[in-house]
Amino acid sequence: MHFSSVSPKLLLQLCISTIHSIFASVFSKVRYWTAGGCKGSVSVLPADRDATTPTSVNYHFTRKCNYKCGFCFHTAKTSFVLPLEEAQRGLKLLKESGMEKINFSGGEPFLHEKGEFLGEMVQFCKQDLQLPSVSIVSNGSMIKEKWFQKYGAYLDILAVSCDSFDEATNQLIGRAQGRKSHLENLYKIRNWCQQYKVAFKINSVINTFNIDEDMSEHIMELNPVRWKVFQCLLIDGENAGQDALREAERFVISDQQFQEFLDRHSNVSCLVPESNEKMRNSYLILDEYMRFLDCREGRKDPSKSILDVGVKEAICFSGFDEKMFLKRGGKYVWSKADMKLEW
Ligand SMILES: C[S@@+](CC[C@H](N)C(=O)[O-])C[C@H]1O[C@@H](n2cnc3c(N)ncnc32)[C@H](O)[C@@H]1O
Ligand code: SF4
Repeated sequence: MHFSSVSPKLLLQLCISTIHSIFASVFSKVRYWTAGGCKGSVSVLPADRDATTPTSVNYHFTRKCNYKCGFCFHTAKTSFVLPLEEAQRGLKLLKESGMEKINFSGGEPFLHEKGEFLGEMVQFCKQDLQLPSVSIVSNGSMIKEKWFQKYGAYLDILAVSCDSFDEATNQLIGRAQGRKSHLENLYKIRNWCQQYKVAFKINSVINTFNIDEDMSEHIMELNPVRWKVFQCLLIDGENAGQDALREAERFVISDQQFQEFLDRHSNVSCLVPESNEKMRNSYLILDEYMRFLDCREGRKDPSKSILDVGVKEAICFSGFDEKMFLKRGGKYVWSKADMKLEW
């Protein structure tokens, strides 16, 4: 085409459309690296994309639960659980991609097949995959001593969630099954952890029902290796918004209230705080189909399953922020062999 024969108006249109397509192309690439971004940062370059390693993964293999915590952000939207062989195949893929730590969560992980499914995966991860760290987070209500006898040797850390040392508050939150004592279980499990040499951890969600509590004495008595203290987080489609199975707005506290709770417990050395900001992008979360869940937009957007597309492709849609993972202390001494457990 000879530009001399083109009208100025058409030339201008051509220029605008060329500039537009250049911008569109750059924008779509930035969007791909960030929205799908392996590191969740605009400064991520294509070469860095290969560097995202699933060092520490949380596998929520079931959504079913026997508790009704009003703030729960991982609800029973499906009852699906992968067959054991498929779950093991996925775990092997993750190990081959550099996974060092697996945490089994849910739903309640001890519910499916009375903890046998979980036990098989724990044993597989330690014995076959030789992972440095295998951990579980549980509400503690379904754990039996027999489970420790059979699988305790393969488990590094067991975290039990407890949001209050007042039974009535646990009942109000929904952190209970019927009238059964949540706290009795907590103490019982703490002793089994000691007996079967599993590192014991506690998770607490700080919300409007427990915000004024002082838990220091109880925590120091229980002496966990870590006490994770979460600011109650809202996730659209889970515990907020239309179609959500929970309405957690009434549990939400401000950043200042959260800080006041932390200040009140500044004498507890094992406390690890997690504000909403720290939590949102700093976890690699796999759902029951082994899809990574991206929480950056305030909801859980799923990737394709690692079983279908592999870890490398799926992880680009995890929204994972490795810097925040390190900032929140996501990497720590996580093998019980390296911990100085005084039991
Ligand atoms: C979804 S639960 C699944 C494991 C198990 N059922 C339990 O409660 O420990 C995993 C962790 O997320 C915490 N959690 C649940 N909802 C939360 C929320 N809205 N904000 C912050 N943490 C939350 C729980 O207290 C627990 O420690
Ligand atoms: S937070 Fe409560 S309701 Fe949610 S999975 Fe855990 S025990 Fe169940």
